[in-house]
Amino acid sequence: MALVDRCGVALTGDCSTLVDRLQAAHDELLHYRGDPVGMVDEILAERPDFVMGWVFKAAVLTQAMETRIYDDMVHALQRAEALWDKANERERGHILAIRKWVDGDFYGAVEQWDAVLVDHPRDLLALQLAHLSDVLLGDTLNQRDRVARVLHAWDESAPGYNFVLGFHSFGLEECGDYARAEEAGRRAVAMDPQDSYAIHAVAHVLEMMGRQGGGVWWLGSRTADWAHSNFANHLWWHKSLYHLDLCQYDAVFEIFDNHLQSDAKSGDKYEELDAAALLWRLNLYGVDVQGRWDRLADKWEHAAEDTLYAFNDVHAMMTFVSDNRLDLAQRVLDANERYVRSEDEANVAMTREVGLPFCHAIAAFAAKDYEKAVDLLHPIRHRTAKLGGSHAQRDVIHLTLIEAALRCGRYKLARALVSERTELKPTSPQNWLMQARALRGAGDAARAEAAQAQAVALQTLRLAEQAVA
Ligand SMILES: [Fe+2]
Repeated sequence: MALVDRCGVALTGDCSTLVDRLQAAHDELLHYRGDPVGMVDEILAERPDFVMGWVFKAAVLTQAMETRIYDDMVHALQRAEALWDKANERERGHILAIRKWVDGDFYGAVEQWDAVLVDHPRDLLALQLAHLSDVLLGDTLNQRDRVARVLHAWDESAPGYNFVLGFHSFGLEECGDYARAEEAGRRAVAMDPQDSYAIHAVAHVLEMMGRQGGGVWWLGSRTADWAHSNFANHLWWHKSLYHLDLCQYDAVFEIFDNHLQSDAKSGDKYEELDAAALLWRLNLYGVDVQGRWDRLADKWEHAAEDTLYAFNDVHAMMTFVSDNRLDLAQRVLDANERYVRSEDEANVAMTREVGLPFCHAIAAFAAKDYEKAVDLLHPIRHRTAKLGGSHAQRDVIHLTLIEAALRCGRYKLARALVSERTELKPTSPQNWLMQARALRGAGDAARAEAAQAQAVALQTLRLAEQAVA
């Protein structure tokens, strides 16, 4: 029997309640709320023959990129594969995609989901997974264009259209089309104020444009809409970036202490990533984080040899070297060195070309071998997208390179690199402070004074704006 969901997509099943319950779980997933996998587990406990239930569970777990969930993902996939004969052609497309993912062929998996979307452009699960995978894999153009290829099938009459707009907004932002990205994201949020992903896409626009005051207001004025979502820690991290750019360290620590270090010994990977990225940035800016690495290092300890995703490994590395757990840092390096000699295509390339050089650079930086850190990072700075994540997340690589250049006295290189940053984001006090250091080091005292004054003026201006707001 064929069932049809609210977007007109066919599912295999014999009871419309299955569609409603799966839709409810998917709604939670799209909103980054609740426990979508738990909801589907309940359905599957009653109806183990529900193909899309197993597909949904396995597909969602692909995005976790953690060894500890690997067995659950594989089990769900195997249960879906066992139902192959019952599955329709679209469901088989999902099963093939997840199989490719489990086998390490991440790009092949995304192409398979793309094939599903060619025939079923209203398949919101396929679109969501392909889009989030594009983010994980750093496929910037397809973060925009894969969504664009299904827009012909969507308009405001289609339930869930706001989520499509949110995905598109993020892709437009990563491709530098900030005006259209902001328009699409704000439109999505107007349609559904609790669309955390669209809120996040606009937050990225504001980050990239250096509109820190606007960013603090954008997230702060709608905190109630996202603060209880599963995306909250990442949005808190984004808010902390605005404050960090403005040198407002008390506000940064307030966010870190209250929102980026949950009590669980090992919990949300995204919280752990953001926490590491934030503390590392504070280190780069010379701010004392006062023992905050210790608790975070406990959480990362189990992942020292994961090598499932290079993006995770570089954050593990930041944490271990910063907490002086050099044995664990060495295990990350050794595991990655072994890993890049294996044949797991997608993540091996990420690790070899960006992840491992960055891990070595982090180790060198921590050992105060700043020359080595520069030599490792400078050649890879133009291909960092391969690490996955967003421009905002990968900016930590560029910041590490610049700080290393400053600390080893390569002031002319630092001056050039920071000149690029101030051109792209002239409203950033941190950029002007770095430029002042680079210019001073290069012997240009007058321009250094001007850059320092610019930083102070921008801080003063933002403080005044915040006081008015
Ligand atoms: Fe983000």
